[in-house]
Amino acid sequence: MIFDKIKLGYGYSDLEPHIDALTLETHYGKHLQTYANNLNNILEGHEDLVKGKTLEEVLSDLEAIPEDIRQGVINQGGGVSNHNFYFSILSPNAKKEPSGKLLEAINKKFGSLDAMKEKLNSVTVGVFGSGWGWLVLDENGELEIISTKDQNSPYSLNKKPLITIDVWEHAYYLKYKNVRPEYVKNIWNVIDWAKIEEIYEGYIK
Ligand SMILES: [Fe+2]
Repeated sequence: MIFDKIKLGYGYSDLEPHIDALTLETHYGKHLQTYANNLNNILEGHEDLVKGKTLEEVLSDLEAIPEDIRQGVINQGGGVSNHNFYFSILSPNAKKEPSGKLLEAINKKFGSLDAMKEKLNSVTVGVFGSGWGWLVLDENGELEIISTKDQNSPYSLNKKPLITIDVWEHAYYLKYKNVRPEYVKNIWNVIDWAKIEEIYEGYIK
């Protein structure tokens, strides 16, 4: 595979009760796997286009992708990149609050951690149909809350992800049914601020 799914750093039942094992197994093992398979099929014969690039670099420069496969790369490549990021920031031993420079930046931009979470939850719950809520760094290095539709990537908007919440129904429907706000509220129990701090430090150094 040119671009593959990440290895999970935890077992399928480790995020319970917030994310149930069947959802995680299906989401990671079936949905993400399908995006990875489709992406690699699309890129067959186009290896030169992506050689030496990360998937995120590919998604940052969609103009370089020929039009006949561009939407496929947006959908399937975004599907791989978005999910890899989502699964990478979850942990059964999540650090529950940020500290240091990241906390300072959040306080400066949003007033408080709770205010940031409230805004991110509201934007994420408000995604119409399938998509993602994000805390990102924008092109000026400022924190920003955005949503993306379908599998569109923040990298294609010149933004770098810090937190994401998947609100495609496959991410929560088995356990939470139609109650998306409950899933969005509970996922904070397994969002690992230690990882997000590490990512933030990498961006600003
Ligand atoms: Fe998903």
